[in-house]
Amino acid sequence: MAGHDLRTAFVTGASVGIGAELAKLLARQGLHVAIAARREPELAAVAAAIRAEGGHATIVPVDVSDAAAITAAVQRIDGELGGLDLVVANAGVATQRHSAKLQWDDCATMLGVNVIGATATLVAAIPGMVARGRGHLVGVSSIAAYRGLPKLAVYSASKAYLSAMLEGMRVDLGPKGICVTDVRPGYVRTAMNEGAGKLPMELQPVEAAQEIVDAILARKAVHAFPMPVAAAMRSAAALPRGLWTAFARKVM
Ligand SMILES: NC(=O)c1ccc[n+]([C@@H]2O[C@H](COP(=O)([O-])OP(=O)(O)OC[C@H]3O[C@@H](n4cnc5c(N)ncnc54)[C@H](OP(=O)(O)O)[C@@H]3O)[C@@H](O)[C@H]2O)c1
Repeated sequence: MAGHDLRTAFVTGASVGIGAELAKLLARQGLHVAIAARREPELAAVAAAIRAEGGHATIVPVDVSDAAAITAAVQRIDGELGGLDLVVANAGVATQRHSAKLQWDDCATMLGVNVIGATATLVAAIPGMVARGRGHLVGVSSIAAYRGLPKLAVYSASKAYLSAMLEGMRVDLGPKGICVTDVRPGYVRTAMNEGAGKLPMELQPVEAAQEIVDAILARKAVHAFPMPVAAAMRSAAALPRGLWTAFARKVM
């Protein structure tokens, strides 16, 4: 990670899973990392692990679906750390359910965290980055963004929203010195997939976090991984709608 100029980061969903591993990897490379999520004891454990290695961490207990709360949190940390160089909207939730059995509560939670939370997190960081003429925004989307997936209709849609928002932000903010990275992981063995059997080409959280760090340092626009799963989803995205519907209904 030689040669990077990142001093500070704000990572949401950093109490467990991919976000916790990402925070540790970023801290190991010298960044002061603000770690946000709802569960304070888990955040404290991540911060303790970072400090045990000589790193710097600040815990930010917050519910990202409360747009006012996450906006205030990002603004406060931006001030306290003398400007955020990197903001990662990683917090996310998924409920797998056939569309015939969808319940509004599940939809509301996914929209609250994946859509409102991610948007509020990133938007809150933009004014400071624009003023400084530098910064890096990252959204942790998913390979589910490529197509509307069966039993994951709302989740897919929430990630397609995030990916499209990041694309629009990249057009607007590139000339202001702000890099925008859309990360699309495949299957990662975290609580999100609790109870699921072996998943296709599944990664461990630390492996996914390393992919994200590498994408950030390479200032990539979009990074979908692992490669074979990403390639399959890109091919699926190119299928005519009727073929996709028939394939997904039969195979998935
Ligand atoms: N696992 C996969 O296979 C996979 C694949 C593609 C993309 N992703 C994406 O990767 C990201 C991380 O997922 P993960 O697999 O690491 O899941 P995870 O282990 O379940 O962790 C989710 C994180 O989000 C936080 N979070 C959930 N609701 C929140 C809320 N209302 N406010 C603040 N934080 C909240 C959780 O913290 P608290 O509960 O403490 O709040 C936790 O830190 C998500 O955006 C997910 O969609 C995951």
